[in-house]
Amino acid sequence: MTLLDVSGVSFAYGGSKTVLQGMDLSFHAGSNLGIVGESGSGKTTLLKLLLGLERASAGTVFFRGQTLDTRDRGFMRGFRRSVQAVFQDPYSSLDPRQRVFDIIAEPLRSLKIETDIAEAVAGALRDVDLPADAARRYPHEFSGGQRQRIAIARAIVARPEIIIADEVVSALDLSTRTRIIDLMRTLSSRMTFIVVSHDIALVALLCEQMVVLEKGRIVEQGVTRDLLSRPAHPYTQRLLASMPRMPVPG
Ligand SMILES: Nc1ncnc2c1ncn2[C@@H]1O[C@H](COP(=O)(O)OP(=O)(O)OP(=O)(O)O)[C@@H](O)[C@H]1O
Ligand SMILES: [Mg+2]
Repeated sequence: MTLLDVSGVSFAYGGSKTVLQGMDLSFHAGSNLGIVGESGSGKTTLLKLLLGLERASAGTVFFRGQTLDTRDRGFMRGFRRSVQAVFQDPYSSLDPRQRVFDIIAEPLRSLKIETDIAEAVAGALRDVDLPADAARRYPHEFSGGQRQRIAIARAIVARPEIIIADEVVSALDLSTRTRIIDLMRTLSSRMTFIVVSHDIALVALLCEQMVVLEKGRIVEQGVTRDLLSRPAHPYTQRLLASMPRMPVPG
């Protein structure tokens, strides 16, 4: 079943130059999708369109076959229940004045999900391997990697089908990054990820499918293993050549 469809989508910020051009993309449950491309190629912009944070200048984004219409509150509530996001900067993405409990509980409250909130928050903390007493503390008491776990706990607490993740590990050191990638792999059995990353190694480890963007266009897409072993487009070849050590999934 197609969860998200991008059909003929183009986009420009406030009348400036076109950032995305004629983009077509389908996203299915059960198969993680990696989106790679150089800085400025339009990855974050594409995610904003997928999340309904920006509107396409042309073309349409569909969720479960229905146009993503941010004015339709009932539809958007269902959408937000299914699609959650984690962003790059673990320092700015968490409200410093809120306790971790309230940060993680936020989607349950704003989506008015009827559940035992304390139990759900405790479960989400367990899922991301943080201690139960983290709930009483504030974001500044945690390291960057732990903050990213808090952000992931908030994203998974409402049991979404899709997590959209933009450069979630790029601000972290190598060993922390490896542990967060392991966590995301574990969570992949329960939900599907759309992952934007400069880090092709992350995409190789986590994503069965990948898309390569160049200047707002998709230049190549397909099964990650095939793309990495036989990149067809010169841009993908250059991108791979510029990457450090590159494990290919078996
Ligand atoms: N709010 C904005 N207003 C105007 N232009 C923007 C805005 N955000 C991004 N852009 C421009 O859109 C293009 C694509 O930016 P985008 O942030 O989507 O790239 P990216 O692939 O996510 O890059 P990075 O890897 O550096 O995060 C760039 O040329 C950028 O300068
Ligand atoms: Mg970006």
